Amino acid sequence: MKYEIDKQVIKKIERLKERRNAVILAHNYQPGEIQDLADFTGDSLGLSIRAARTDADTIVFCGVRFMAETAAILSPEKAVLLPEKSAGCPMADMITAEQLRELKRENPDALVVCYVNSSAEVKAESDYCCTSANAVEVVNSLPQDRRIVFVPDQHLGRFVAERTGRDLILWPGYCTTHVLITEQDIKTARAKYCNAVVMAHPECSEPVKELADELLSTGQMLKFAAKGTTQRFIVATEIGIIHTLKKQNPEAEFYPASERAVCPNMKKITLDKVIGSLEDMQFETTVPEPIRTRARKSLDRMVEILPTR
Ligand code: 13P
Ligand code: SF4
Repeated sequence: MKYEIDKQVIKKIERLKERRNAVILAHNYQPGEIQDLADFTGDSLGLSIRAARTDADTIVFCGVRFMAETAAILSPEKAVLLPEKSAGCPMADMITAEQLRELKRENPDALVVCYVNSSAEVKAESDYCCTSANAVEVVNSLPQDRRIVFVPDQHLGRFVAERTGRDLILWPGYCTTHVLITEQDIKTARAKYCNAVVMAHPECSEPVKELADELLSTGQMLKFAAKGTTQRFIVATEIGIIHTLKKQNPEAEFYPASERAVCPNMKKITLDKVIGSLEDMQFETTVPEPIRTRARKSLDRMVEILPTR
């Protein structure tokens, strides 16, 4: 979608950023104008690394709660703001810390790997955290003789099990947006856009992933498209990423596998809310200290293991 952000709005945000010594981070699924405005855009891993390394005093996190929480765990001395309080991730809410503790009691010898799309309490109960970009590397780094519990995304879990040959104990969580993309959507798009390469996110269902050419995190999709080896893509993930794919590759064609793949929570962030957030320092995301320290350990191990793709 083409639009111009009002110059006055940009100026206002710049002034507020200066006043708060703030940096704006935006996930690849954010509305186009938010991605354009941000200092950094990226996937969950890239944004976690940025959040850990920035020397700004304030981080405005344009994404969902678990992302702001992750930034707060990594940078407790900074003010981490989520511009819309109710922007959560249904998948992250599909497992509680108590449910994970029960799973650990049932599997006392297993190591626990949690997807970053989880609460701080769940991270605190886990040995390792991972994102879709480094989940395979994280699991590959674990001793062969240990069983592994993987929470909460069953679809990412099955992708990791297949790539690593490990038998993971899965939790039945899923992304309510990615499961809207169907096998039929891929078949229809392939018939319509001949010779297009299908890039799918590992959060998609298994039948969709079977039909895809490449299984990639959102950051990896951007890198893959930038290689320029092909000029026509069907994109099986949240449609917000198409904005940046088009912007970075103006010669190439990008088609959403499904127009239904919209994450309502990601779309709750607006320019007005970013302004309100900087003006009133809201909504500050904090993690209580004992939980933060434990969650930090699983995140530190994740940030160290970079993806090889
Ligand atoms: P990545 O950007 O890490 O691929 O994650 C996708 C996602 O669903 C974030 O909520
Ligand atoms: Fe959560 Fe899915 Fe939205 Fe990502 S796209 S924030 S996993 S609901």
